[in-house]
Amino acid sequence: MSSTPAWFANQRRARNVVWRRTLLAASLLSLCLVGSTLHALLAGKRPPLLFSNNSSTRLPSGVPQTNLDVDGPLSPNEPSSVCPQPRPLVPSKHHTVDEQLHKLFANETYKMAAYKAFGGAIEIPTESYEDLLPVGEDDRWDIFGELHEYLEKTFPRVYASLEVTKVNTYGIVLHWQGSNDTALPVLMTAHQDVVPVAPATYDDWIHPPYSGYYDGTWIWGRGSCDDKSDLMASLQAINTLLELGFEPYRTFVWAFGFDEESAGTQGAGHLSPYLEIRYGTHGFALLLDEGGSAYGTAYGGDVVFAFPGLSEKGYLDVQIEVTAPGGHSSAPPPHTAIGMLAALLTTMEDNPHPALLTRHSSAYNATQCAAAYAPSFPAYIRRLAREAERSDVALAMLRDALLEEFGLEYEVLLRTTQAIDLVEGGVKVNALPERAAAIVNHRIVQESSVAAVEARLSALLQPLASRFNLTMDAFGGTLLPQPTEVAGNGTSKGHVSLAVAFGYALDPSPVTPTGPNDPYQVLAGTIRGAIADSPRAWDEGRNVSGVVVVPQIEHGNTDTSRYWNLTRNIVRYSHVREGDRYNGFHTVNEAIRAEGWLDSVRFYTRFILNCDEYL
Ligand SMILES: *[C@@H]1O[C@H](CO)[C@@H](O)[C@H](O)[C@H]1NC(C)=O
Ligand SMILES: *[C@@H]1O[C@H](CO)[C@@H](O)[C@H](O)[C@H]1NC(C)=O
Ligand SMILES: *[C@@H]1O[C@H](CO)[C@@H](O)[C@H](O)[C@H]1NC(C)=O
Ligand SMILES: *[C@@H]1O[C@H](CO)[C@@H](O)[C@H](O)[C@H]1NC(C)=O
Ligand SMILES: *[C@@H]1O[C@H](CO)[C@@H](O)[C@H](O)[C@H]1NC(C)=O
Ligand SMILES: *[C@@H]1O[C@H](CO)[C@@H](O)[C@H](O)[C@H]1NC(C)=O
Ligand SMILES: [Zn+2]
Repeated sequence: MSSTPAWFANQRRARNVVWRRTLLAASLLSLCLVGSTLHALLAGKRPPLLFSNNSSTRLPSGVPQTNLDVDGPLSPNEPSSVCPQPRPLVPSKHHTVDEQLHKLFANETYKMAAYKAFGGAIEIPTESYEDLLPVGEDDRWDIFGELHEYLEKTFPRVYASLEVTKVNTYGIVLHWQGSNDTALPVLMTAHQDVVPVAPATYDDWIHPPYSGYYDGTWIWGRGSCDDKSDLMASLQAINTLLELGFEPYRTFVWAFGFDEESAGTQGAGHLSPYLEIRYGTHGFALLLDEGGSAYGTAYGGDVVFAFPGLSEKGYLDVQIEVTAPGGHSSAPPPHTAIGMLAALLTTMEDNPHPALLTRHSSAYNATQCAAAYAPSFPAYIRRLAREAERSDVALAMLRDALLEEFGLEYEVLLRTTQAIDLVEGGVKVNALPERAAAIVNHRIVQESSVAAVEARLSALLQPLASRFNLTMDAFGGTLLPQPTEVAGNGTSKGHVSLAVAFGYALDPSPVTPTGPNDPYQVLAGTIRGAIADSPRAWDEGRNVSGVVVVPQIEHGNTDTSRYWNLTRNIVRYSHVREGDRYNGFHTVNEAIRAEGWLDSVRFYTRFILNCDEYL
């Protein structure tokens, strides 16, 4: 899916139930998306009894008691000033093509051929490893050549009709020339690589991980959800549009990276400059990449919520290293390097980053959307959200209420998180440790930055280093050249060093604009239109009363973190319905509901037709 440098913790929300944590030990940078966010925030949560959804609900004291006449959520078709929804977009100019597509997607022969093509791609184990050397220096890349042959054999029409460019051997760029050369092209991305399957887990798979097996309902295998799904749905969509004779007005471009699940340097790292040079800085109208959330009735009732990611938290790993004189442990000082490191780490945990809820942040906007439209949203928080538009007191109370009500879900939305994920130190039980080190992973909120997190950490730990009589340097600067309490003279008890680990850090991403005329509206309108008239019954016997699109912030990073120069309009979204992924990402029994995947093909065709017509 998407990514977060995470050699240790890949968190992913699986099937709306629990955060799954997979611990991966590895030496290099690994990116892999951390499940997002709001869509699951409220699933299964009920308003507290005290504040159940009735009109006698009162605000906690201290909040201006105005505008309390409106109580319940809006219906999805009522306008909201805090969470404006575009009108559902369906092809009009391209209505005939859309009708033909509609028929095809119901055609069993078409469907079986599409599932077979998809399954064949899953069979090729294009695994991404943390320790891959550059292309040309490591034959573990060769498997991507097999995938390329397969794609070319499976979609000859695509390869014959579009311009195909290979970037750094295994990056694929498809260029579908439109009749108007001036209109900015639209870029769609997906990745060819998958996370490895641990051999020890092979037996836990219901169908083998590289079978691509279609059992009549599910299509099984690694990559079926992340991200062969988007790769193959894109190609299937292009192929089908070509078969129907569609000729675009706007140019469409696809870029398929091949190491999104590891460093991203070989794939997106080469694709990005290629695309920037060829199409220009900000040369694309819109970029659509994979996303982690599923759409569904996460907030109860019959309102469907969809969660395109319009921003990403930043990323920083800090290594904290303490060195101290060694010696025999029968004559120890009061604090060893390990003890001092422990104290530094405890200080960090005792001082979490502040929870921030600022107006017009992604977290605030997503909260306003939930408050405006979500049937299950607690009434008192709904009211606080309304008041928070104007009142700073209410804004602060809203922040506290969200943390209180939703716990971890909002902790990660509102705070820069810190997680001590790696620690090492000591070599022998009778020897004093000369070195102890830990690596702390941070995900940085929009209001902050890598530099701000570094500065805060330096300031937080400096007094403690000083108390331990340590010298200290941090992020390239020297903070404590001398131990403060022992002036001069090499009487330092050791040294503490703070540094960016693994040479990689990322500021919070720019935020995709959502103004009435921004390209985002075409994506959001396509989502609303595609769900509203999907041929798939929602849940049996349930009707959809409407669709609400909720812009959100992702906790993890995808290949898009390398694509900021290509466009200001980046959306991370995969069109997958709640319950259509069998078991989530990066774990055993990755499988996707075949009908659900086909619906994502339909979504891509709709997106292309709508961009061509409405952008
Ligand atoms: C389904 O598609 C196949 C192959 O494209 C075609 O031969 C067949 O007539 C279609 N069936 C229907 C019911 O349209
Ligand atoms: C091509 O697109 C540009 C930019 O959107 C527009 O200004 C121009 O009128 C279009 N040309 C034609 C022939 O449609
Ligand atoms: C939040 O929504 C407002 C109003 O729609 C918009 O102006 C602002 O840019 C949004 N902020 C973010 C971070 O998306
Ligand atoms: C730091 O040095 C001072 C002065 O020598 C000493 O009194 C103090 O105990 C030392 N602190 C620690 C934690 O070693
Ligand atoms: C440091 O050591 C030198 C030489 O031993 C001595 O002359 C000086 O006074 C010491 N300085 C301090 C601050 O202890
Ligand atoms: C984006 O553009 C800036 C300014 O030209 C450049 O410094 C930076 O390296 C580019 N970023 C990427 C990821 O290519
Ligand atoms: Zn992915």
